[in-house]
Amino acid sequence: MEVMNKYWTIKTHIEDAPKEADFDLKTSTLALSLDPGSKEMIVKNLYVSIDPYQLNRMKSSSSSQKTGGFAMGITPGQEIEAFGVARVVASENPDYEKGDLVAGLVTWAEYSKIGSQGMIRELDPMGFPLSYHVGILAFSGLTAYAGFFEICKPKRGEKVFVSAASGSVGNLVGQYAKLHGCYVVGCAGSKRKVQLLKEKLGFDEAFNYREETDLNSTLKRYFPDGIDIYFDNVGAEMQEAAVANMNSFGRVAVCGVISEYTDSGKKAAPDMLDVIYKRIKIQGFLAGDHIGLFQDFISTTSDHLRSGELCPLEDISDGLDSIPFAFAGLFRGDNIGKKIVKIAEE
Ligand SMILES: NC(=O)c1ccc[n+]([C@@H]2O[C@H](COP(=O)([O-])OP(=O)(O)OC[C@H]3O[C@@H](n4cnc5c(N)ncnc54)[C@H](OP(=O)(O)O)[C@@H]3O)[C@@H](O)[C@H]2O)c1
Repeated sequence: MEVMNKYWTIKTHIEDAPKEADFDLKTSTLALSLDPGSKEMIVKNLYVSIDPYQLNRMKSSSSSQKTGGFAMGITPGQEIEAFGVARVVASENPDYEKGDLVAGLVTWAEYSKIGSQGMIRELDPMGFPLSYHVGILAFSGLTAYAGFFEICKPKRGEKVFVSAASGSVGNLVGQYAKLHGCYVVGCAGSKRKVQLLKEKLGFDEAFNYREETDLNSTLKRYFPDGIDIYFDNVGAEMQEAAVANMNSFGRVAVCGVISEYTDSGKKAAPDMLDVIYKRIKIQGFLAGDHIGLFQDFISTTSDHLRSGELCPLEDISDGLDSIPFAFAGLFRGDNIGKKIVKIAEE
């Protein structure tokens, strides 16, 4: 038996803000029979993750591509790998059988072929919606958890600033920080997002960075006693202003620099005298390096979800066709919470 499989590719490398027209929807036939002993599988994708880092993979070159794995460069015309949740429809892998639910590296497609070395695992939904296993209980969640607890080493009562705070990683960092007893201020790109941070997610304060003309004085206003922790999702001038407002021995976790992904001319240039004399620690990190925390992260986060202390924030679009719009929307600030595309009914 075979199926017609639709999948997305990029037409050419994308060097600045992505547009829907940069993508091509292709169709090919996919045989649902596999060579015996090949250890391959075919899965039907249910939900796929839409993430900013994919843009760095779509460029002709980027330092991110040198780390390999998830961040490897994407060639125009090639299927685009992405994290997702799927159901096995054919398997020659002895660890999986038809009907199993899996989570891991699939593709922006209706069906994906998973090689014998595929990054995939069996999924136990633990009573949560499957979409949670693409975001809050997957890499976005681990990024927020590892970045905040391992890199920032927070203490109760410390003052925390989070950028892109209504996004997938940012909203969780703010919520973990509140649960840890910190004072939390977030910034986001619209009035609606600011309201949500304060009224639904329990941030102490939030502001719309698009309305501010002098970020340095904005942060002075929100942090008259200085910032202890800055969780950076955006880079550039926000990072400079945060460093200028850090307290001695402050920590900056550089999670992402999304404002620099679409504008190669933008680069954060924090004041290095501040960094030295205030003994500020600025550290980049990758969630994948903290996979050892996964069980701890899952048990803490699922407990908080069950008790209602943690609010899941998801932004789900429907259908494979919506992927380019959903992806380009990340860089326009369209999404509120984890951006996910639902490909098929569960
Ligand atoms: N280190 C890691 O392992 C790791 C893992 C996952 C994600 N990340 C990084 O973490 C950051 C957040 O990722 P996410 O998945 O949670 O995405 P997200 O925050 O859910 O979505 C992106 C958001 O970024 C904001 N944004 C877009 N362009 C911007 C610009 N030019 N200036 C300021 N803000 C802008 C938008 O919100 P506004 O409306 O607020 O502008 C948008 O909604 C990204 O930089 C990503 O690359 C790193």
